[in-house]
Amino acid sequence: MQKVRKAVFPVAGMGTRFLPATKASPKEMMPVVDKPLIQYAVEEALAAGITEMIFITGRNKRSIEDHFDKAYELEVELEAKNKQALLEILRGIIPKSVSCIYIRQPEALGLGHAVLCAKPVVGDEPFAVILADDLIDGGSTSEMKRMVDVFSDTHCSILGVEQVPQQDTGSYGIVEIQDGNGRLKITNIVEKPKPEEAPSNLAVVGRYILTPRIFHHLQHVQPGKGGEIQLTDGIFALMQEQHILAHKIIGTRYDCGSKLGYLKATMAYGMKHGEVGEEFSAYVKGLKA
Ligand code: G1P
Repeated sequence: MQKVRKAVFPVAGMGTRFLPATKASPKEMMPVVDKPLIQYAVEEALAAGITEMIFITGRNKRSIEDHFDKAYELEVELEAKNKQALLEILRGIIPKSVSCIYIRQPEALGLGHAVLCAKPVVGDEPFAVILADDLIDGGSTSEMKRMVDVFSDTHCSILGVEQVPQQDTGSYGIVEIQDGNGRLKITNIVEKPKPEEAPSNLAVVGRYILTPRIFHHLQHVQPGKGGEIQLTDGIFALMQEQHILAHKIIGTRYDCGSKLGYLKATMAYGMKHGEVGEEFSAYVKGLKA
């Protein structure tokens, strides 16, 4: 039985919804309190036992590589000033045993194409895909860990899903499911359908475990919604030959691709932050009064 050891992080998107903040730096580097979104995503993968992080990058994404690299000059400076606590924060970003691999997506041809770019590194094993702008606070454990556990039991591809308001179906891949033997089997998936055409209001929320057979299908799907190679279309094709399951996420998801979702995340993470949480919560409660 193959384990899920690798995670793919597509980070080549333009982040136009956050301009001008994302003019010169990637949206995945936007901080929620004091950590960039991509670090939360990597921590979720680490907590699921994943040891190989594969970033699909584009132009302007150097800071992501720098973030997971050793910051030599900074470390020397902090060492000289004996700032041990800060040094530990820097050194704890990623364990030494974990490898980070960066692949450039030469053209923004869609999420499906971004995932396909990982094929030479993923090879013939199951892998996770994590979209960093869907920030998921798993609570007691990492949401990806829950999905990896389902994979260990079933060996099926799994998509993280959540109910969304019907009027929002046009922002997501939407699935139709069938309940059987305690598992939710996906029977249909459509990329960003209009509310009146959506098969349900169960949306895919940026967490996937996929069998390597997905690459075959991504190589063959035609450009779909928005003229892009859609991961959703590859998954639809995969569904014709393998079971694909839905995992209803248990944690709280923040859509940090939208300003409102990002603000909600900042507020929630601020209120439970070890250093400022108590004071910030008191401040927020004062505002409401
Ligand atoms: C992508 C996928 C979509 C999925 C969504 C989750 O869309 O294409 O199927 O539901 O991520 O966040 P995007 O948000 O990149 O437009």
